Amino acid sequence: MAKLNLSVAISGRGSNLKALIEACADPGFPAKIGLVISNKASASGLRFANDAGIPNLIFDHKAYNNRADFDRNMTGAMEKSGTDLVCLAGFMRLLSDEFCDHWRDRLINIHPSLLPSFKGLDVQQAAIDAGVRFSGCTVHYVRKEMDTGPIIAQAAVPVLSDDTAASLAARILIEEHKLYPHAVRLIADGRVTIDNERAVISDHNGPINALQNPE
Ligand code: GRF
Repeated sequence: MAKLNLSVAISGRGSNLKALIEACADPGFPAKIGLVISNKASASGLRFANDAGIPNLIFDHKAYNNRADFDRNMTGAMEKSGTDLVCLAGFMRLLSDEFCDHWRDRLINIHPSLLPSFKGLDVQQAAIDAGVRFSGCTVHYVRKEMDTGPIIAQAAVPVLSDDTAASLAARILIEEHKLYPHAVRLIADGRVTIDNERAVISDHNGPINALQNPE
């Protein structure tokens, strides 16, 4: 079966891009990355695309008069590359309604909290400040409102009493790097459908043990 063709959009470090590249390097993985896009020429994550020989383009948002033009150019490049699924991976630009409509149900994002809790930025500190005992990461389809959309997969990590935003972010990031390829695989295998704005996973085996923190 043909592999799902991904476009990955980044703005910075690109560690999730790296995780996706590594997953795609497995011949049995049902997706490949056809294009990497960054809105910043300085994004250090671009080196992962270059090292892997993946075509990459920089769309400097400052060079565009408005968001719609910027987004239309990105869509054009992604269409040209034959994109089946757009993966946002630390892409720090809000997307236009037009872009979200064009790629509806073919556009996913990874966010470092258990959505719908803690949308937006600085979410690790927000989780610590709220005193929650678990946080984690979410891969979800993208809708127009920021950090909303049907949830595909989540991974939970404990929040420890001496956590800083940095230590919690590091614990979550380890899970992000496993969860994003896992979610892409679920989609590529045709196991995800959207029903009434909920993502439904077929043949779904979840863990049955409760987590407790503190013990
Ligand atoms: C990740 O924490 C991701 O969840 C969030 O932005 C960060 C990107 O990190 N959306 P990286 O660029 O993939 O290393």
